[in-house]
Amino acid sequence: MNLAPVIAIDGPTASGKGTVASLVAEKLGFHYLDSGALYRLVALGSQKAAIDPENGPELGFLAQKMLISFKNGRVLLNAEDVTEAIRTEEVGLRASKIAVHPEVRDALVAVQHGFRRSPGLVADGRDMATVIFPDATLKVFLTATVLARSERRHKQLIAKGIPAKLVNLLSDLEERDARDSSRGTAPLAVAEGAKVLETSELSIDQAVQAVLGWYQT
Ligand code: CDP
Ligand code: CDP
Repeated sequence: MNLAPVIAIDGPTASGKGTVASLVAEKLGFHYLDSGALYRLVALGSQKAAIDPENGPELGFLAQKMLISFKNGRVLLNAEDVTEAIRTEEVGLRASKIAVHPEVRDALVAVQHGFRRSPGLVADGRDMATVIFPDATLKVFLTATVLARSERRHKQLIAKGIPAKLVNLLSDLEERDARDSSRGTAPLAVAEGAKVLETSELSIDQAVQAVLGWYQT
């Protein structure tokens, strides 16, 4: 079977993965997968259902039965529009807690593979190149200093009308990065053969051009 090409983009919190990946997808006419949104949906769903973030089996069951849809830039969970609700840093932190459980990760594999359709896919997350699409056509690891990333996330949240304090974001990002990089299952890591792009001093357009350049050569 001829599988559609995949550009896998991984990296730490607020490194620009989502912005760069969706613009690259738009330029190439490819589908786009925001895998972090899936973990955020499980986090929000588990918060609503009052499930303990330590309870892997129950969280895995929830992840299996959740009804998720992405429509016209909106994210629906069991038919409720949660596009803004999943973007808070509180949900991001909870997402990094529930994401350590293999039961949750396993429940989300098939839905992620389902995004791989012709003419191609750009997927962003933590384990796109290492676990979900190890045969990706191009693997990219985006990074930036923790200060640059906290400032970006701060600006982004304020622009969306979501309250946030820079000092809190800095410690939340550090906590999330540490948990994501040290967990036993699918930790954040640079995949073998991945191109590393340090974006602290790069504009969004420069980062997009770098990825397109690698893909097209
Ligand atoms: O998906 P991820 O958490 O890695 O980051 P993002 O949500 O795509 O980007 C975080 C913020 O940084 C967004 O508001 C982007 O516009 C901004 N950004 C930037 O200022 N410069 C870059 N080179 C990349 C992203
Ligand atoms: O955009 P940002 O970098 O803040 O986070 P995200 O990509 O929306 O992901 C939220 C959390 O979900 C991360 O901190 C990870 O713990 C988890 N995640 C994961 O484990 N694997 C992925 N492929 C994507 C996200």
